[in-house]
Amino acid sequence: MNSPLYSIPGSATATPPPPAAEPAAPERTVAEVLARSQVESVMDELDRDLVGLAPVKQRIRDIAALLVIDKLRLNVGLSAATPSLHMCFTGNPGTGKTTVAMRMAQILHRLGYVRKGHLVAVTRDDLVGQYIGHTAPKTREVLKKALGGVLFIDEAYYLYRPENERDYGQEAIEILLQVMENQRDDLVVILAGYQDRMDTFFQSNPGMSSRIAHHLAFPDYSGAELAQIARRMLLDMNYRFGDGAAETFDEYLRLRLAQPHFANARSVRNALDRARLRQASRLFTDRDRVLGRDELTTIEAADLRASRVFTGGAGR
Ligand SMILES: Nc1ncnc2c1ncn2[C@@H]1O[C@H](COP(=O)(O)OP(=O)(O)OP(=O)(O)O)[C@@H](O)[C@H]1O
Ligand SMILES: [Mg+2]
Repeated sequence: MNSPLYSIPGSATATPPPPAAEPAAPERTVAEVLARSQVESVMDELDRDLVGLAPVKQRIRDIAALLVIDKLRLNVGLSAATPSLHMCFTGNPGTGKTTVAMRMAQILHRLGYVRKGHLVAVTRDDLVGQYIGHTAPKTREVLKKALGGVLFIDEAYYLYRPENERDYGQEAIEILLQVMENQRDDLVVILAGYQDRMDTFFQSNPGMSSRIAHHLAFPDYSGAELAQIARRMLLDMNYRFGDGAAETFDEYLRLRLAQPHFANARSVRNALDRARLRQASRLFTDRDRVLGRDELTTIEAADLRASRVFTGGAGR
């Protein structure tokens, strides 16, 4: 196929030059780079806010180390090609892929790899048109929005539909490949989805596979990690478990894990949202009671027990 060379306007040239502050001396130590970029605070936050995910956190530290050393190399005059940072996040639903991608965008920004550090999350429908001629403008529009940050393509394998030989997904892939190569100093693409489907996608799209430098696998959470995630989420929302509610939630998790469509931390969030609804309904019935902080923040065991998971229904 003889496709034109796509270049997305609005990259480096559109940014105003940095303010003419006194030129800082180039960093010469890792500590100096870390201090100036404040990247360490993002990594500490990531460690603190996200439960588990040890292998993912380690990979992120490795990538950050590469960028820091690259900067030091540059400072002593060692030039090198910009490292390719396109990534692939594989894992089941609710394992934290989108959340980590947002943090990754911040880290890349602080280390000066991308200009803005925002994340544009899309799926096939945002890139691929229904009719001939619609796909290229759609894909280019998305790329333009993502330049200077991270383009996160969820369930990326849906771009490739070999069963339909006139599918426009291929056109989107071609454009992505070119921009991933030519503008990789200003755009990081993260493909996300299930491991097995991603493997199949890469087998049929070696061009894409060869442009992905980092593969991060997101494992399912253990029961203990899910319980800890629940506590973290409650705290963030200004709620707490009342007497016996934490044990009831452990029981809930055990039952829910054995049911179909369990989606890790996403299911935990949904379960807590439903418990909040029940708590509100419970408090709502007593019109004249003065509701203090305690009542307003407490999820009781009964709010969890009312779930269909306990009453034998499927799904919730
Ligand atoms: N390790 C974790 N610690 C705390 N909260 C987490 C963790 N992982 C995920 N969450 C929370 O769970 C929810 C789902 O996470 P996220 O959307 O990042 O998962 P995902 O892998 O992108 O899932 P999907 O495939 O369904 O899009 C979010 O509210 C997120 O904050
Ligand atoms: Mg997601």
